[in-house]
Amino acid sequence: MTSGVQDDQAVLRVEHVSKQFGSRGMLSRAARGVNAVVDVSFSVARAEVVAIVGETGSGKTTLGNCVSGLLRPTAGRVWFENKDVAQDRQGRRSELRRKIQPVFQDPRSSLDPRWPVERTIREPLDACRIGTMRERRDKVATLMDRVGLPSFAGSRYPHQLSGGQQQRVAIAAALALDPELLVADEPVSALDVSVQAQILNLFESLRADLGLAILFISHDLSVVQHLSDRVLVMYAGRVVESGTVTQVFEHPVHPYTKALLDAIPAADPSRRHVPMPLKGEIGGAPAVETGCVFAARCPEAVAACTTTVPGETDFAPGHRASCLVAAAGRPAVPASASAAVPGIPDAQHPQPEGTSSANEEGLTA
Ligand SMILES: Nc1ncnc2c1ncn2[C@@H]1O[C@H](COP(=O)(O)OP(=O)(O)OP(=O)(O)O)[C@@H](O)[C@H]1O
Ligand code: SF4
Ligand SMILES: [Mg+2]
Repeated sequence: MTSGVQDDQAVLRVEHVSKQFGSRGMLSRAARGVNAVVDVSFSVARAEVVAIVGETGSGKTTLGNCVSGLLRPTAGRVWFENKDVAQDRQGRRSELRRKIQPVFQDPRSSLDPRWPVERTIREPLDACRIGTMRERRDKVATLMDRVGLPSFAGSRYPHQLSGGQQQRVAIAAALALDPELLVADEPVSALDVSVQAQILNLFESLRADLGLAILFISHDLSVVQHLSDRVLVMYAGRVVESGTVTQVFEHPVHPYTKALLDAIPAADPSRRHVPMPLKGEIGGAPAVETGCVFAARCPEAVAACTTTVPGETDFAPGHRASCLVAAAGRPAVPASASAAVPGIPDAQHPQPEGTSSANEEGLTA
């Protein structure tokens, strides 16, 4: 699925990226490995926050790691300012990799327990030999102020800090090399709700004040709603719906997106959809694609869903989803697209009397 800004505005372009783990040739399905990411395309503009959401195992981290250069895609390309991230052979200290910095869920994993805060934030500058020691220390002071850490925290060790303070340290270290894109993988999931809001405000200020682009990965839709400009919804390695926050949160079209939204405790009951309980777990991608990857769990599935792979449909400018039923039910769907899907009647192509309707023959999870 393609989703994104105009090419000339994009700092990041992800083109048809797939990542497979554990492939061992043409043997059994297990031996062919896990399709963690399947043909994902999107772009991110400067100062834009794009969220990637989905259940556990949907491929969010794998996609984020392909963007950061921590993983090499099995297929497809990640372009950052028109340079291929995977072809950058100088490693994490190269000019290209400096511009893309990861922020992880558990700050303790990225903080050396033996180092005080000041040294942790200074380490990228030391490693890249940027500036004099005096200039590095000045920069650390500026970064601590930027992320809301008091100056006395510079001499503290990670175990002397709260979870929120630890994440601020990790973010300050990520900012040390003046990146242009942060890939933040569940950066608030380990924090208390009240602290989450503070760290989300920090990300918002980094975008607004520094013009940082942010790829924000979260399994929690409520976390991304107020921070993000656009949302990509992932299921079993695919982006099944994408659009602006308003499009995805207020007018979701994919049954999986609706189910995720239904799972959010609703402050405003008017925003709730008819509850559609989602059964089962994310399955592995089928070895041979004979239908929609979500069919076994989908509350709206019909017969065609098990035989036809849904292509992506535009539901509004910038709002796309891959669902046969949603596409067939949309008045603006081109006649050729909906007519080509067997077993699904729609307003433009009512089935003749006497033939079975999709609902009559439909499959439900
Ligand atoms: N190194 C690996 N080797 C083999 N399989 C992997 C590896 N990393 C991830 N996977 C598999 O790829 C799929 C996607 O995993 P990934 O960690 O990207 O999901 P996720 O959406 O980030 O999940 P979570 O919300 O739990 O972090 C899963 O089936 C996972 O088991
Ligand atoms: S194509 Fe069918 S199974 Fe897939 S999401 Fe749409 S209704 Fe559900
Ligand atoms: Mg993950």
